[in-house]
Amino acid sequence: MNKENIGHGQATGKIILLGEHSVVYGKPAIAFPFRATALSTTVVPNSVLTLHCQYYSGELAKAPQRLNSVKEVVKQTLLALQQEKVSLDITITSTIPAERGMGSSAAVAVSIVRALYDYFDVTCPSETLLSLVNRAEKIAHGNPSGIDAAATSGHEPLFFIKGQPLESFPMNVSNAYLIVADTGIKGQTREAVSDVAHLFEEDKESTSQHISELGRLTVLAKQAILADDCRALGQIMNQAQEQLEALTVSNEQLDNLIQTARKNGALGAKLTGGGRGGCMIALTDSKNNAEKIAVSLESAGAVATWIQSLGVKN
Ligand code: PMV
Repeated sequence: MNKENIGHGQATGKIILLGEHSVVYGKPAIAFPFRATALSTTVVPNSVLTLHCQYYSGELAKAPQRLNSVKEVVKQTLLALQQEKVSLDITITSTIPAERGMGSSAAVAVSIVRALYDYFDVTCPSETLLSLVNRAEKIAHGNPSGIDAAATSGHEPLFFIKGQPLESFPMNVSNAYLIVADTGIKGQTREAVSDVAHLFEEDKESTSQHISELGRLTVLAKQAILADDCRALGQIMNQAQEQLEALTVSNEQLDNLIQTARKNGALGAKLTGGGRGGCMIALTDSKNNAEKIAVSLESAGAVATWIQSLGVKN
């Protein structure tokens, strides 16, 4: 136990710029920690193991099924710390909207692992953190690539390939701004990932073409970013959206916001994260345009918008 008898753990939301879904099949993805949204966990001693979060307050053992991944990460982390018998009170507070493609489930797990290690005053190696979080993510998402765990726990934008060492990536595009808009509808990452897997079984040829194309576009996006070419990046985002639509992971509300952003001058727009709801992103080359696009997205039904500069380290 540390001197204060209190453990703290933090994590951020994340945004996938390019490569969602294809990343599950070994293609690269570009993602960054999204500090506009964050999550923190506090751990204090208690007579019973309890959890307090926006969905539940009470004994962890009696938490509803939707919190199974939280139960799992607490259990596995206490096991890793050889503290299975301990009773604690765990409180999670969050500004990351849940099930919106911002990686909230991974962020919850990251902050819990960090808070428990902090409570016991043990340093948590990053491989241990990622392995504990990915184990919990298997329960939340079925077949996670690991990108959410990496991006919500890190400090740098990533060029991510499943199973390979993390590669941070300088995401500096002069004057570029990303607008993130929430459809207000829960994304369905688990279903979307599993439907893409079914599509793969039913029509291997065309599904693998879409996945390969998404991989190719992600590599082109990396080149466009390194060449400081905002316009090319926008076009690549539009092309990626076509592929994601073909994989059936977009939906009407996302399509509506994407069209609205493009009509209002965005250089490119696409869904971000698992899709079927959740958030979309749009790219523009000035703060003024970003503000105008954000207003147009809110008029078209977005329940929240954020503006993120890509011109500085995130
Ligand atoms: O919806 P999110 O934020 O969990 O993002 C999921 C990203 C996918 O590529 C669709 C799945 C994955 O595990 O990489």
